[in-house]
Amino acid sequence: MNIAQILEKQRKHLWPNHLLYYTEPLPLERGDGLYVWDVEGNKYLDFFAGILTTSVGHNNPHVNKRVHEQVDKLLHTSTLYPNPVHVELAEKLAEITPGNLDTFYFGASGTDADETAVQIAKIATGHSEVIALRHGYSGKSPMGMALTGQSAWRIGGTQIAGIKHALNPYCYRCPLKMTYPSCGVACAEDVEDVIRTTTSGKIAAFLAEPIQGVGGFVTAPPEYFTIVEEITHRYGGLLIIDEVQTGFGRTGEYWFAIERSGVVPDVITMAKGIANGLPLSAVATTPEIAASTVGAGLTLSTFGGNPVACAAALGTLEAMHADAPPARTADVGDHLRAGLERLQEKYPLIGDVRGMGLMQGVEMVRDRQTKEPAAKEVAALFEVTKKLGLLIGKGGLYSNTLRIAPPLTATKEHVDEALEKLDYAFAQVQEMVG
Ligand SMILES: Cc1ncc(COP(=O)(O)O)c(C=O)c1O
Repeated sequence: MNIAQILEKQRKHLWPNHLLYYTEPLPLERGDGLYVWDVEGNKYLDFFAGILTTSVGHNNPHVNKRVHEQVDKLLHTSTLYPNPVHVELAEKLAEITPGNLDTFYFGASGTDADETAVQIAKIATGHSEVIALRHGYSGKSPMGMALTGQSAWRIGGTQIAGIKHALNPYCYRCPLKMTYPSCGVACAEDVEDVIRTTTSGKIAAFLAEPIQGVGGFVTAPPEYFTIVEEITHRYGGLLIIDEVQTGFGRTGEYWFAIERSGVVPDVITMAKGIANGLPLSAVATTPEIAASTVGAGLTLSTFGGNPVACAAALGTLEAMHADAPPARTADVGDHLRAGLERLQEKYPLIGDVRGMGLMQGVEMVRDRQTKEPAAKEVAALFEVTKKLGLLIGKGGLYSNTLRIAPPLTATKEHVDEALEKLDYAFAQVQEMVG
């Protein structure tokens, strides 16, 4: 099938509310390492990794070997039967999670993980209210959409009682119009205000991403989570950190982004990069919190902890230990960051560069003083980068932030290739807008 035929079938048979990148959406057919090819043989450097999911590159031999072996053994069990790869993965994850977050519940998506995390927080605390952050994203179920802090992603108008949103630590557009660090991270204090003014005063949890993914790679200052952890615990809640995008070494130096703040959360949710593209998620918590589920009722997950997905996760961890450990990601990420900051010096369209490791955001503005979001310019840049054979992502409440996040196996040469294409694309779009 060629591109036109695929797009025709897509229009006919798939719901029109799927968000598709590019004026002419791009059907991809195969991938290898950092590259993917469309159905007509055009090659692209993949700097979005299927939304930060292909963590160790396409067609990774460690992952594929594990998957092939498992496919030939057993495809499915459900959680009713213990399985060797399921428990082996839990054991391996316990080696990299912070503190004693070494018990797990496996699911099949990030939405599933965030739902499960809120569920255990309610069981463990006996409270029901949850604080999330504005601009955050937690998934597509009713609970996921209610936790999400962006109206565009709340289709069907779903709301769930008892979820409140605090200000997000968005330093470039500070909701309090203050400047870091002289602000003293005043936005963190808003969490207490929200609890005291909009809840019963007893919360089940505070849930946030260390770097907001869909929110446009908004990066909380390091002290933010220390302050919020204290407030959360003082009001009886658990600290749930959503590492669906930031986990598995994505932000460099550590396996999980929250570790940088020195805070050990009560619960971590993970998905996306955990299995290099196979559907898997995990919720990590302490044995004490996990024990609170005893007597609280039953649970099962048909697809959660699927043996093939767990095998892929074991292969992903092997590949990361061998070729893409967090320290290497920090180094390649610094190289990417320096290159993006050089582009910022060159192009007034770039208002802010932020993020960590191989999760870097570029917020585009029409005017650096007014910070008017440049969403149309982002769309124009997308068309140019596609023609140049470079895939990147976008996001943010104003759809004006580029999300640059290649597989963690990217080399500095891959980064230079991407930067060269971005430089060319920015030159074209900057010329268009003057
Ligand atoms: C931070 C975060 N949490 C949860 C989700 C939901 O994950 P999924 O799409 O696998 O349900 C996403 C998806 O983008 C996410 O970025």
